Amino acid sequence: MAPTPARTPASQSPAPASDFPMLARKIDGERLVYLDSGATSQRPRAVLDAVSDFETRHNAAVSRSSHLLAGEATIAFEEAREKVARFVGARPEEIVWTSGSTMALNLLAYSFGNIAAGRGMGEASARFLIGPEDSIVVTRAEHHANLVPWQELCLRTGAELRWLDLREDGTIDTATFDRIDATTKVVAFAHVSNVTGAIAPAAQIVAAARERGAGDNGAVVVLDACQSVPHMPVDVEALGVDFAAFSAHKMLGPTGVGALYGRRELLAALPPFLFGGSMIETVTMEGTSYAAPPRRFEAGTQAVAQAIGFGAAAGYLSAIGMEQIAKHEKRLGELMLEGIRRIPGIRILGPERVEERTGVLAFEVEGVHPHDVGQILDASGIAVRTGHHCAQPIHDFFGVVASTRASLGPYNTEDDVRAFLEALATVRPFFGLEEQ
Ligand SMILES: Cc1ncc(COP(=O)(O)O)c(C=O)c1O
Repeated sequence: MAPTPARTPASQSPAPASDFPMLARKIDGERLVYLDSGATSQRPRAVLDAVSDFETRHNAAVSRSSHLLAGEATIAFEEAREKVARFVGARPEEIVWTSGSTMALNLLAYSFGNIAAGRGMGEASARFLIGPEDSIVVTRAEHHANLVPWQELCLRTGAELRWLDLREDGTIDTATFDRIDATTKVVAFAHVSNVTGAIAPAAQIVAAARERGAGDNGAVVVLDACQSVPHMPVDVEALGVDFAAFSAHKMLGPTGVGALYGRRELLAALPPFLFGGSMIETVTMEGTSYAAPPRRFEAGTQAVAQAIGFGAAAGYLSAIGMEQIAKHEKRLGELMLEGIRRIPGIRILGPERVEERTGVLAFEVEGVHPHDVGQILDASGIAVRTGHHCAQPIHDFFGVVASTRASLGPYNTEDDVRAFLEALATVRPFFGLEEQ
């Protein structure tokens, strides 16, 4: 089911709320204002129907049996891969299904580690070989999913973990690019911070990784695209990254599925991480040879219905157009920023220039714990996230343990932003901190 044609007057959005059954829910009698899409998005009927149609009419094991249902399931599964690949400018064989971004990033870190254990896949694997003389560079703004796996890889291999630092407003400080040098094998960074909404200078980081990093081709570049792919046009080839991770559930798709993009020649050189059925070419009692990518990285039964829902989500977003979605969310983000600036006692964590950010906005309400802020907003039907959002180092950097985060999706409207701002303005007065 295609989305209804885009309308963008004040109370409208390019993805109409009527396409999203959840958005009809009332929260204690209040209209649900969902501003937690950075954590997980709501799903349109097109996605729910695709999953339900597969489960009720086509469910079978993919790529395994010769009966009709198995054929239908395999076709639907591979068509979903094609849709997701097209959505990010990749080829289908460059998209590996994972359970989400966390799994995609762990897959990479473990696979690199497996080369260290002497299991390379030909000469090109040397680029992934990490040892005590090497470094891995991340940024201080990472979600734990793009930090802890690299910390662990460093512990296993003796490599040094370094990070690009941040300017006062949480944007990446390009003056710290000198932390990338001839020892650097991997540069891994988030395209968009899940705390500040800041858009990383991707082209500059890729260029620095190529020019300054190890060997003739420079460092391998890993993009955590979890917070960018759902909100703006992303073309992995044009960005020039080697790998990218993103999750279906943040882009209107189901939970339990995500993707690792890998440039074809690099995936071909990468050893597997999980072993078992479906990822092999031949197995004897003496040894095993592995299938070509992407199947080499898809051991065991996959989340088939969810992958099909992921394909439907990519189709739904494509039908609207990511340019249109980015434009809409930017406009709402600007309204949110302007409105927040007018409320006394609120500190925005992140850049204030709308050009440098997406619709993810974390803030501190002075004198009020984020959980209390969240509860007060919830009483008006407004769902936001509170806590450290799995990004403790950047919270430390801002000198806070936690924050409140409002994050936009393509279904949000100006009315949503207004309702949020009105409720937020009552928080400090509620605690006697401000005259209303
Ligand atoms: C920037 C970023 N990276 C990685 C992740 C992890 O995604 P998932 O939980 O879907 O694996 C998230 C989720 O919040 C995120 O925002």
